[in-house]
Amino acid sequence: MITLGTEMNEVTEHRAAIDVCDLAKTYGSGASAFQALKGVDFRVNAGEFVMLSGPSGSGKTTLLSILGCVLTATSGRVRLMGEDISRATEGDLPRLRREYIGFVFQAHNLIASLTAQENVSLLLEMRGYETSAARAASGKLLDDVGLGEKLKSKPADLSGGQRQRVAIARALAGSPPIILADEPTAALDAQNGLKVTETLRALAKEHGHTVVVVTHDSRIFHLADRIVHIEDGLIQEPT
Ligand SMILES: Nc1ncnc2c1ncn2[C@@H]1O[C@H](COP(=O)(O)OP(=O)(O)O)[C@@H](O)[C@H]1O
Ligand SMILES: [Mg+2]
Repeated sequence: MITLGTEMNEVTEHRAAIDVCDLAKTYGSGASAFQALKGVDFRVNAGEFVMLSGPSGSGKTTLLSILGCVLTATSGRVRLMGEDISRATEGDLPRLRREYIGFVFQAHNLIASLTAQENVSLLLEMRGYETSAARAASGKLLDDVGLGEKLKSKPADLSGGQRQRVAIARALAGSPPIILADEPTAALDAQNGLKVTETLRALAKEHGHTVVVVTHDSRIFHLADRIVHIEDGLIQEPT
């Protein structure tokens, strides 16, 4: 029975794509030290589509940046796809980011002089693809986000929502298991916001990615599997 219990635990552990335990982050030191995360517990299963919501300054971007291997934590444990990254140094972060993470920002950060396909190809080439393979793969990724007809369009000729979907296709380059998005609909109207969120949801539901979206956009809440609330550096238990 004890063995069975252990196996069950291992199975449960394995399903967690993101497993955060007692995570703290303090910015600065001494008199100017500020504790942005105060002991966060947060788990996301593989294939889940989770929204992280909370007021401005509550620690959303800080948490997402640690999950995204952009920032190191002050204390606590973080596991991505079963790998403990808690003791990673700044020097380890690029490797971890490449292996596990695709990031979508509030501003799409596309290069204006490049077409949609070139914007995505560029990232694939930076990841070691040959030019022709990068072209083919970027066409496929753009097709996956519903932009198969816009490969040759430049950012200026796309709607805000379409640009954000190019940014999502770019985040998918290299097929990272975890996709993180920080307020991806903040600059969009309702219709474009919904379309972008549906695209992110499809990554989880149709392609098996694990997706966490930071948002306080109540217009898109209904598309989440689960909404996790954070306030003042702490996750609020559902009531
Ligand atoms: N680099 C930094 N240095 C000092 N304080 C920071 C830094 N980044 C964020 N903070 C502070 O940490 C708190 C949480 O910030 P953030 O995670 O960006 O919140 P949110 O994304 O929920 O608005 C805020 O009070 C913010 O001012
Ligand atoms: Mg933020």
